[in-house]
Amino acid sequence: MKLSTPFATLATLALAGSAAAFPAFVGKGEAGIAELLARAESADPEFYARAKAADEAAFQAFRERSAEIRKGGEVYKKRADGKRSITALIDPASFKFNDAEQTVDLTSDEHKFIAPGPNDIRGPCPGLNLLANHGYLDRSGVTTLTQGIDAIVKVFGVGLDLAAALNAYAVLFNGNLLDLTWSIGGPYGSKGLGGVTNLLFGQPQGINAHNIYEGDASIVRQDYYEPGANNDNVLLKLDLFKELLADGGNNSADGVDVFTPEVMLKHKSRRWHQSVERNPLFFNSAFGGLVVTTAAERFVAEFAANNTADPETGANRIYLDEKNLFAFFSVERKADGELVYTPGHERLLPSWKRRPLGSPFSLVDIVITLLNAGRIDPSLLSVGGNAGKVNSFAGVDAGNLSGGVFNTAQLLEDPQALSCFLYQATVTELIPTQVQTLYKITGAALDFVGKTLAPAWGKLKGGDGDEPCQSFNTNAAGRVSVADAYKKFPGSKGALV
Ligand code: HEM
Repeated sequence: MKLSTPFATLATLALAGSAAAFPAFVGKGEAGIAELLARAESADPEFYARAKAADEAAFQAFRERSAEIRKGGEVYKKRADGKRSITALIDPASFKFNDAEQTVDLTSDEHKFIAPGPNDIRGPCPGLNLLANHGYLDRSGVTTLTQGIDAIVKVFGVGLDLAAALNAYAVLFNGNLLDLTWSIGGPYGSKGLGGVTNLLFGQPQGINAHNIYEGDASIVRQDYYEPGANNDNVLLKLDLFKELLADGGNNSADGVDVFTPEVMLKHKSRRWHQSVERNPLFFNSAFGGLVVTTAAERFVAEFAANNTADPETGANRIYLDEKNLFAFFSVERKADGELVYTPGHERLLPSWKRRPLGSPFSLVDIVITLLNAGRIDPSLLSVGGNAGKVNSFAGVDAGNLSGGVFNTAQLLEDPQALSCFLYQATVTELIPTQVQTLYKITGAALDFVGKTLAPAWGKLKGGDGDEPCQSFNTNAAGRVSVADAYKKFPGSKGALV
């Protein structure tokens, strides 16, 4: 499960033929991806219609919350009744619990837990590992754009836009644009296409690849360059897991909401500062660092959580107790109290229920998550890194990156400004540059971005009636591009997004 040679260093292969030689998506034009996505939808039109409506409702809620926050309103409204204050924009508790609708098949022959075999790929993401172990992703650990979207939307209630964005990044940066596959762990062979090197500068590396998707200050994995980690950014470390349990007050009672978004944020903050203190090459990129690792903490509280009926009101009650957390992270407590981790055996308990379909966790929820995280601990919004020794963290200023258009204080006051900033930092600005390090024929890759990533993220820029999204001033004196800003950090090696 170790990172092998990154794409960029394999750039010695001969430049190759035209797009017309490629059999799958490339060269098919508009119809290619739209057709694939439509195929996934047509298999379950009712589900997708509802998921789309729910995503749209979340987006509307985001606009309303943004307007309130701009006027000085709270990011999350505090509740006095003991229920979660930090919830998705559409609170799962605003629905009645519906057992039939929220039950996910985890026990049939097709979807029961089966431990991975010796040739199956597993990686650092517990959510993806367990989806493969339950047969919602190919059990081999190599999946596709549409299977990945379908699985996380249906099993976990991930918002459609977010699902599309997560999968599109994985295909583009860790997978194979020719057949739209990607791996949930390390490198994989291109299945029978043979032509992968005609398009890519090397074999797809999978999501283990450090500094692309996978980043530092993870929940329970060490940093790739952390002294003593031996470049292991994939396996769970029990001492970090125990710290998470301590953040939850070491409460092992069943049915209690221990690992709330507040607890996960506290843990994220601690992990971030630990990386500054322990890893001379700590680096926090815009996408893999800021977005992915901050979102991943929240994913635990939102998606590993179980859902049940409130005994008094019948409303949906979302909670994450130790029992469900342990299954999700593949940890067991032995009779003598000792914790044991079995790599790759992540699962959902047969009693686990999905959140209500009307309450997705979407891209807009990630923006609010980041804004809240930045208010609690401003470090968490910093793109930057250590300078080669511990405790030397320097962040790149939002003003520098945007050519004076944004500043950090403003980003913390306006979710729409933050989403506009993130869109430009991670899509418009970075992707065209970074695609050139991976792809020989950049047109095909950028075409893919235009059809998958841009529509999903692009919504964040807003539309009629929204605060206008101001473009970075790339001509401003002293302005630093995101890609150039990365270069001054020694731990940014290979960083693409
Ligand atoms: C296409 C979808 C997804 C992709 C490509 C993806 C990718 C990743 C990657 C690369 C990491 C490592 C990040 C790091 O360095 O910390 C990660 C971590 C994580 N992911 Fe995912 N993920 C996806 C969906 C999900 C879902 C649906 C869940 C929840 C059910 C989830 C939960 C997590 C958690 C909790 C971690 C942190 C693990 C740790 O640090 O110990 N992910 N994911």
